[in-house]
Amino acid sequence: MKNIVLVGFMGCGKSTLGRKLARKLNYRFLDSDEEIERISGRTISGLFEEFGETHFRELEKEYLKSLLGQEGVVLSTGGGMPCFNDNMDLIKQFGTSFYLKLSPYELAHRLQKSKTPRPLVAGKTGEELYFYVKEMLIRRSDFYQKADFILSGKNHNVNHILGLLG
Ligand code: S3P
Repeated sequence: MKNIVLVGFMGCGKSTLGRKLARKLNYRFLDSDEEIERISGRTISGLFEEFGETHFRELEKEYLKSLLGQEGVVLSTGGGMPCFNDNMDLIKQFGTSFYLKLSPYELAHRLQKSKTPRPLVAGKTGEELYFYVKEMLIRRSDFYQKADFILSGKNHNVNHILGLLG
């Protein structure tokens, strides 16, 4: 019942894949953004707007800590979670981690089509979005790459992950 944690940039597909994986393994699926929204009674955009990003990062840390000790969980993390407050160490303590890697081009394309409100990219389109993603990935990749497994796009599927888990 070792936990599984999916990490990666906004829009890489963590929640969709996490849900499928949890169903297949008969694990509990948790999405950190959804859980933080439920616990705080606010949307992610609302939290950023009202209290700022630093406060949101504290909530992410608290939430992650609250999970330690649980078993049989597939956790889909917010894209920034692994990159703040030594969270990647906690993530690795919590379970087997997978970085769902995609190129800046693919991510920008997916984000442009996504309907999920994301305060950090709100209002950005086209080239602006692409360059933002590219820049952020340079800063965040070192954290994501600490994951136990790094999966390129063609391996973002349940069967591949199950194969790696053995
Ligand atoms: C963020 C990613 C979002 C959400 C928040 C900040 C980030 O989650 O936590 O908008 O800093 O990359 P998704 O990766 O699920 O979009």
